[in-house]
Amino acid sequence: MIALAGVGYRYAGAAGPALLDIDLELRDGEVVGLAGASEAGKTTLCLVVSGLAPRTVGGQIRGQVTLDGEDVDAWPMHRLSQRIGIGFQNPSTQLSGVTDTVFEEVAFGPMNLALPRVEVVARSWAALDLLRIDALAERDPRRLSGGQQQLVAMAGLLAMRPAHLVLDEPTAQLDPAGTRMVGEAIERLAADGASILIAEQKTDLLASICSRLLVLDGGRVALSGPSAEVLADLELSRLGVAEPSEVRLRRAADAAGANVARLAGAFARD
Ligand SMILES: Nc1ncnc2c1ncn2[C@@H]1O[C@H](COP(=O)(O)OP(=O)(O)OP(=O)(O)O)[C@@H](O)[C@H]1O
Ligand SMILES: [Mg+2]
Repeated sequence: MIALAGVGYRYAGAAGPALLDIDLELRDGEVVGLAGASEAGKTTLCLVVSGLAPRTVGGQIRGQVTLDGEDVDAWPMHRLSQRIGIGFQNPSTQLSGVTDTVFEEVAFGPMNLALPRVEVVARSWAALDLLRIDALAERDPRRLSGGQQQLVAMAGLLAMRPAHLVLDEPTAQLDPAGTRMVGEAIERLAADGASILIAEQKTDLLASICSRLLVLDGGRVALSGPSAEVLADLELSRLGVAEPSEVRLRRAADAAGANVARLAGAFARD
């Protein structure tokens, strides 16, 4: 369980806060989505939840961040990073740059945890398998497409087996098939009990994997609630978030005078 109570955050030297009054609870096994326009504060919230801000990034935090009931304020980064993993939008910031094969890259994190060799190997294959990229195991991570690198970076994160996961636009470089794969991996991880916070622009993905959604605007929570409700909110477009295709379709059908429910009923009777 990840919990934020009254959290605010200001980057060092910034004129104003990047986050204000954030309350958030992520239960184990729950996937919560984070949406909002550019500059709304999504990445900042990911950094705060994962503990990188202010620890590594600097700046000032207010309020309380707790992980499984413990205040993480005094936790050293190495302890925190075994409990909560963060995946960045750009895989090149995540890849170590010192390995020659995808397998070594994925094994890099667990190896640094000084786990037994068999455990490292088992975890690495399991992560490659989960993201269906085992065929890339012998490839040079530097010579992969951006989308493949994104999946490798994510496999490396999963091989660490963090109890909780924060993903900042993990599908930014992925095509629909890759996006679906990441979505399925997230659902499987959540089914295993991880709590997952995912910042995403792709609302179709959020609609399919998140139970709840948070929409940020200027560092504040503008909308929050069950995904279906938030994604149907008329404020969504004004907040710079694209409506998912199901909602767009329904609105277009309504605008064209067709009642989708009646149509669906008519089809069902046929
Ligand atoms: N290192 C930094 N120092 C000062 N201000 C920053 C820093 N990083 C981000 N900001 C500011 O914090 C605010 C929130 O930025 P953030 O990157 O969290 O937005 P975002 O929602 O992730 O946007 P995007 O969709 O473009 O990724 C913005 O006003 C941004 O300019
Ligand atoms: Mg961002």
